[in-house]
Amino acid sequence: MKGNTMTNPSSTKGPSNRSFLALLALTATLLITACDDGHDARPSLTLRELADQRGILIGAAARPGLIANEAEYARILAAEFNSITAENDMKWKATEPKHKTYTWNNADAVAAFATAYGQTVRGHTLVWANEFQFQVIPDYVRNAVDVATMQQYIDDHIEAVVTRYADVVDRWDVINEPLETLGPGVDQNVITATLGEAWMLRAFQQARALDPTADLYVNESLTTLLPAKHAGLLALVKRLIDAGAPIDGVGLQAHYLGGQVPAALQSVMEDWQALGLKVAVTELDIATAGGDLQSHATGYASVFATCLAVSACVEVTSWGFTDRHTWLNDFIGPESTPLLFNEDYQPKPAYTAVAETLAGD
Ligand code: G3I
Repeated sequence: MKGNTMTNPSSTKGPSNRSFLALLALTATLLITACDDGHDARPSLTLRELADQRGILIGAAARPGLIANEAEYARILAAEFNSITAENDMKWKATEPKHKTYTWNNADAVAAFATAYGQTVRGHTLVWANEFQFQVIPDYVRNAVDVATMQQYIDDHIEAVVTRYADVVDRWDVINEPLETLGPGVDQNVITATLGEAWMLRAFQQARALDPTADLYVNESLTTLLPAKHAGLLALVKRLIDAGAPIDGVGLQAHYLGGQVPAALQSVMEDWQALGLKVAVTELDIATAGGDLQSHATGYASVFATCLAVSACVEVTSWGFTDRHTWLNDFIGPESTPLLFNEDYQPKPAYTAVAETLAGD
């Protein structure tokens, strides 16, 4: 078991809740073992139950339309994961497409589902301004006429979203992808070009003031694949902390589109641990290279094993859970098959490999 669930560094609005869940899972294990007829002493636990036992979060990105319309999607999401991230529905464009005009329905649906099934919610994301791949900034922010207006928009947005979900979200990706996509420098998107790095410090301070118990993260892509980018993020986070930013952790997105998990994953986690920060794998998906399900399974197992080996690692969240619904079906094509369940909701070898890793087999 990784640490004591009572003292596990993972956040926060639910340490006692998670300890209780761990106790429940342990009790279930003992009961099932005691009732066993002798054929197979090992109970079949869900990934969620196994993760509860290990004191880590196992999450999935989710879409409310699928929760509402596909029963098997909702069933697996509830059974196999103790955490949910809204894939898109807590983002700025989704929640406040126009200044002070709020569209909460989809985000509320994700929050309600998580609450109903006793899951934590990773809030994703308050401010994402790097537009390498997607147009993520609402037009009214892009067109802000001056510095003060731009800052006001950010302040208003953070206040509205953090306040609304303070009872549900226990950790926030306060800023997403602050660095340029392929390099170590701070991304010169429209927000940073206008306000400098100061907006990042202010965002963390504001989120802390609005919800003092939520863990606050920087979430970034490609740092386990690009050493210079990892160094750039270390430098930025140190600068922000030195300036007074209340940063609790760093999210590693972990879109392993080449099918391989980088060897640097553990050392990157340990660098954050050395700074006293938590670390979370926040958006894991591993493309199935050439249809090789076995190496896909090995990759998933190694990410979970690495998280279990690094005490600062509190979470592994995958970016979806079924190949039927993944952003990579649009971005790469259906051949990427990057997740734990296939398009018919059947568990893949990666599912078994993760279960065995969490069980300590
Ligand atoms: O819902 C509309 C639909 O009505 C319309 O027909 C269709 C036409 O393109 O677009 C649909 O919206 C798309 C939405 O995904 C839902 O599928 C948006 O155009 C598209 O931009 C959006 O992409 C999301 C992207 O972030 C941008 O927000 C992806 O689903 C989502 O997986 C991706 O997630 C990001 C993380 O937030 C940050 N890290 C990288 C990760 C993957 O790119």
